Amino acid sequence: MDYEVRGASAVSGAFKVPGDKSISHRALLFSSLANGLSEIKGISTGADVISTAGCLKQLGVDIERGEGVVKVYGKGKRAYRAPASTLDAGNSGTTMRLLTGLLVGQNFECTLTGDETLRRRPMQRIVEPLSQMGATIVPSYNMTAPLKIFPSKKFHGIRYELPLPSAQVKSCILLAGMLAEGETVVVEPVESRDHTERMLNLKKINGQHGLETTISGDFTVRPESYDIAGDISSAAFFLAAAAILPNSSVTALGVTLNPTRTGILDVMKEMGAKVLLENIHETTGEPIGDVTVSHSELRGVDIGGSMIPRLIDELPIIAVMAAFANGETVIHDAHDLRRKESDRIVAVVDNLGAMGADVEELDDGFVVRGTGSLQGNELDSYKDHRIAMAFAVAGLAARGETVIKNAEWAEISFPEFFKISEKLVIRDINHTKPASSRKVKNGLEADDGRQM
Ligand code: S3P
Repeated sequence: MDYEVRGASAVSGAFKVPGDKSISHRALLFSSLANGLSEIKGISTGADVISTAGCLKQLGVDIERGEGVVKVYGKGKRAYRAPASTLDAGNSGTTMRLLTGLLVGQNFECTLTGDETLRRRPMQRIVEPLSQMGATIVPSYNMTAPLKIFPSKKFHGIRYELPLPSAQVKSCILLAGMLAEGETVVVEPVESRDHTERMLNLKKINGQHGLETTISGDFTVRPESYDIAGDISSAAFFLAAAAILPNSSVTALGVTLNPTRTGILDVMKEMGAKVLLENIHETTGEPIGDVTVSHSELRGVDIGGSMIPRLIDELPIIAVMAAFANGETVIHDAHDLRRKESDRIVAVVDNLGAMGADVEELDDGFVVRGTGSLQGNELDSYKDHRIAMAFAVAGLAARGETVIKNAEWAEISFPEFFKISEKLVIRDINHTKPASSRKVKNGLEADDGRQM
């Protein structure tokens, strides 16, 4: 689908985003390991989470979708059944990396693959530690998926220092650790999102080389009732639109305020936007609340170091905000952005450049010198959900018309994005609409058409 966006005069209103993607994956996976019925409310509606559910079903886990709740009938951590065919993680790195951690501890052989993009993403980062634990994984060329996983004779705990902060790798090893003999300790150089640790109540200490999390092979997961907070990474697109567009103010209701995820709010404040947090409470071990962002004049910022994992998925939309800020914004230490659903450094630099921004590519990030305006253009989503949505927001703030090609990739994490956008946007004479005349086959539906 191509999506046409025309400049908006403002955004305004309150909106609710679907459940957080990271927490939703984990709720499904952990429920599948518990002995008994778990219930998940407010699960993410994105295609990635549907991929996790699809793999679990192939592994013999019963999952039912009821009125506003997903029911998972877990049978224990070693009760997966050998799948009849190759497991497909779709576009989802979290599905592939976390599930591999669980599959290496089962007593059957299986193969886990993904779509064209996921099959290009690096898997060495999980193959290496899992092999140290005694797992037998045969990756494809260049340490990528498909991954062939064989039962291992002796599977044991390790102490592993992560070479890069990654919640996916950390979680993969911790999940493998609950199926291994003895204790597994993961040390992260700087803190990454900690949903796994919170949801499993894992012991965490400040060690000599960073934060250490320990799990033991006799760990058992109990059935739970999960109530999933809204996804702050999805809300970020509209919060950013409000920060950029004059006379704007929007409220994201009930989003996760876990400090490992709220780097975007800190950056917005530092850039000068007005950020207000209200109704803060806790659900399923996660802080949650309403976030209001209102427009104010923005200034450039420098973002690097331990801040990067706290906003890794928000860097494309931060780049768009930076184009409307006074002065220079520098993003550095974000090498891993090149290994996401697209090379997000290239995607951001190319698309912002095509809109007339003053942008420069760095090896580990980019520099944006704010000019206060962008010019609409025809842009590619790079088959990357966050690029599609970040540049749809850029289009709202740009002069003239912007077309996002292959915009349906937004469905990977946030199928409701375009509908909510319609609700919040205020126009004078212009309007935003799907370019139905140019609508092409929806790649996501065509690829799998899966439903939870
Ligand atoms: C995720 C962790 C992050 C993030 C991804 C989801 C998770 O990846 O980019 O969207 O749920 O653990 P890395 O941990 O590889 O940085």
